[in-house]
Amino acid sequence: MICDKENHASIYDGCKLSYGKMLRYNHNDMEGLEKQLQKVPETAGALIVTDGVFSMGGDIANLPEICRLAKQYGARVMVDDAHGLGVIGEGGRGTASYYGLEDEVDVYMGTFSKSLASLGGYMSASAAVCDYVRVSSRPYMFSASIPPACIAVATEALHTMKEHPEIVDRLQEISAYMRSKLLEKGIRIRLSETPIIPIFTYDPIRTLQIQKELYENGVYVNATLPPAVAPGECLLRVSLMATHTEAQIDEAVDIIADVLSHYDLEAPAEIDFDSLI
Ligand SMILES: Cc1ncc(COP(=O)(O)O)c(C=O)c1O
Repeated sequence: MICDKENHASIYDGCKLSYGKMLRYNHNDMEGLEKQLQKVPETAGALIVTDGVFSMGGDIANLPEICRLAKQYGARVMVDDAHGLGVIGEGGRGTASYYGLEDEVDVYMGTFSKSLASLGGYMSASAAVCDYVRVSSRPYMFSASIPPACIAVATEALHTMKEHPEIVDRLQEISAYMRSKLLEKGIRIRLSETPIIPIFTYDPIRTLQIQKELYENGVYVNATLPPAVAPGECLLRVSLMATHTEAQIDEAVDIIADVLSHYDLEAPAEIDFDSLI
């Protein structure tokens, strides 16, 4: 298993459950990925696993290069598109569609718990791989299946997504609007291309204080703390919905700017800010 260091915690758990060996490369560092691929013995199978849209940073995996390297080194590619489905690609079809690489991804999986507003998840792969997972995945085999109500919600959400691709366009539009408004106010954000917009707050305690103050003023954002990120790289994660309006965003950005102005938000000296963007 060859993992991007910013992969979601569930991927790390999956790697442990595989009893295989895990190698990691720095976030979106394709030279690092190639170096790790070179370490894989010829007799071993190699699976590159990556978030499609990274859950903390909101940035998109460099799938074209990942797929090219996979071909070159005889590895397979698995994409966890929890945050890509309903967000990027044609009509919200996700990261592989965004790059036109649907046929290059060997295992495509995600969850129903984000854009589909339900619980559970899916995996799509060749029949042989799906059959293998059915009989060898411990969580699949030894836990109860998803309640029918969750399946119904996810199915209906998929239908809505298919019938109303404009919802996905609107999500992109409102996300770009919020990014531009935050940047106008001089707020340091990670330049994602998705509705996940991270605001740098660095220190864990300060991050929680700001989150609380924002909440008390009517703005809900997620605090991203260790172990999801390294100490000193904490974030407030803004997540948008297609139903947010420009007026709501204007109001939220004013509140965010006002609350942040009461804090000293200099990056710790040891952090290379540019490397985080
Ligand atoms: C990339 C990624 N994969 C998997 C999951 C797990 O999703 P669930 O909570 O629906 O199992 C998440 C949830 O945060 C995620 O961000």
